[in-house]
Amino acid sequence: MSISGRDIITLENLSDGEILQIFETADKFEPVARGKEKSDVLEGKIIGALFFEPSTRTRLSFKSAAKRLGGGTIGFAEAGVSSTAKGESLADTVRTVENYCDAIILRHPKMGSAKFAAEMVEVPVINAGDGAGHHPTQTLLDLYTMRKATGDLEHFDLGLVGDLKYGRTVHSLAYAITRFIPKLFLISPPSLKMPSEIVGDLSDRGVEVVETSNLEAILPELDILYVTRIQKERFPDPAEYEEIKGTYRVDPELLQEAKPELSVLHPLPRVDEISPEVDSTPYSMYFDQVFNGVIVRMALLSMLIG
Ligand code: CP
Repeated sequence: MSISGRDIITLENLSDGEILQIFETADKFEPVARGKEKSDVLEGKIIGALFFEPSTRTRLSFKSAAKRLGGGTIGFAEAGVSSTAKGESLADTVRTVENYCDAIILRHPKMGSAKFAAEMVEVPVINAGDGAGHHPTQTLLDLYTMRKATGDLEHFDLGLVGDLKYGRTVHSLAYAITRFIPKLFLISPPSLKMPSEIVGDLSDRGVEVVETSNLEAILPELDILYVTRIQKERFPDPAEYEEIKGTYRVDPELLQEAKPELSVLHPLPRVDEISPEVDSTPYSMYFDQVFNGVIVRMALLSMLIG
């Protein structure tokens, strides 16, 4: 079983066994990510990180992962400093950059852009977020964190809360996690529900989907609460965002109703949907997710191009 040279556009590009193999490799990279051991599995390899949208975690964790493994990175953090600003197409940009590197990591505001880029080039393309589409490496680190928090990927009740309409992390996660668990709680304001085609796909696969706007009522049932930001930048009408922002806030008072072993995850960045007082409680797992993002991306890069 090898994923060498493959594009990672959605998690559907990986089998369950391949996902678990990435996790086992990630476990081994932990001391390397902490700077306690050295690795040269990417020596001589160059990653092209093309970010047409802002990012802190995805871009920097990929750069950190490549560097820890002895590789290098090139790229840009905003379209304005590339020749996109002069009108160059995405196709020409990626066909150019593939001459400089061994894999392309692409974040772009347009849904479908990573798939399109993968069709244009020979080197592997990793989707680092395509508009409201998918974010498969975030999903890998989310699954990895859930597995660490609960001991496996099969025996927990998971609720996704917040912006389920525009949030690409929850779109990817909903498809991926239901390969392992049979039930999913979707908690959102009515106007930010999970797209009906995704709910339909999950139902067709036999997943029990519970949709509600009432977080307080569902919280006591959950082992994992995955919180997402209401994504201001994706609202066509700013007034609609103003109306809906602040709908959910996870704070110590709300968490009094939770199971003691509940884990709270968030892909970050957060705005005010989790209060900072939660950070120092045993519920908080979102900065563990950040670290896990490095080792999971190390594993992925080593298996794709190492
Ligand atoms: N979770 C995530 O994708 O964060 P960034 O937007 O900072 O990369």
